[in-house]
Amino acid sequence: MRNLTTLAELTAGEIELIFSLTEDLKSKYEQGLREQLLPGRVMALLFEKQSLRTRVSFEAGMAQLGGSSLFLGPDVGFGRRESIADFGRVLSQYVDAIVVRSNRHETVVELAEHCECSVINGLTDYAHPCQAMADLYTLRELAGTLAGRTLAWVGDANNVARSLALGCGKVGMNMIMATPQSYQFDDDTLDLLRREVPDLELTVTADPVEAVGDALAIYTDVWVSMGQEKDRETRLRDFADYQINAKLMSHAQQGAVFMHCLPARRGEEVADEVIDGPQSVVVQQAANRMHTQKGILAWMLGANG
Ligand code: CP
Repeated sequence: MRNLTTLAELTAGEIELIFSLTEDLKSKYEQGLREQLLPGRVMALLFEKQSLRTRVSFEAGMAQLGGSSLFLGPDVGFGRRESIADFGRVLSQYVDAIVVRSNRHETVVELAEHCECSVINGLTDYAHPCQAMADLYTLRELAGTLAGRTLAWVGDANNVARSLALGCGKVGMNMIMATPQSYQFDDDTLDLLRREVPDLELTVTADPVEAVGDALAIYTDVWVSMGQEKDRETRLRDFADYQINAKLMSHAQQGAVFMHCLPARRGEEVADEVIDGPQSVVVQQAANRMHTQKGILAWMLGANG
């Protein structure tokens, strides 16, 4: 039984196996085929926060694989009626996998410790592994090979950035981050990266122009994430020079793409001209959330698991 709480739990070989499954399932999907790899399997979606992409892509993907899903909102009392351990021990008697979106990463780790089924992180304040898998798969589709290519991150060193750094290290990509000094990865994250992906070439700068120059992809995320609203004014001021707009994209190499995990705050971290422009692959990324999560579920719960 495997969990996916962060990308540290996957080897490079397992990521490639999931990408192969994804490629096969996506190709069949585009031909109108829905291969029923997981009949009778049940997935619970336990969400403490709002979601469009993660919730719907997991539910649709599981249905296409022949399984079913249960969306569990506040009515199940997660974190309120009983201990997380008791909740996990019981829920995992009924379902084969739990996708959990939580305010605190520690909640997902504790749940996984006590479940007898697979637990998948559907976003915490610390990690968003399913997003990073879809993003790397999107780049694999676009560029063919990933090793030796560079992902530029412009903005806050947040949960998505941390997951992408782990993912880049696993697939042999380099990462360059343009982030104001006080928002860069903390020492614990740098220790994690040195331990888990020692070969990752990570460059940190405060200069967005320097970051985008050699990149295959230029990636950003919101400056104010869910739960950080009280710091909104400070963050908007601190990140004001980090917007991805046509001027910044003019420093990128030809063929570079723009990426965003969505939802976006247009006019803040990205200008309309970029997110709606020809270099934007944000819809392909969002579509690939479903395809890569089908690959993850097939790997975790199917014959390859
Ligand atoms: N990118 C992402 O996780 O989107 P949702 O918050 O809509 O699930």
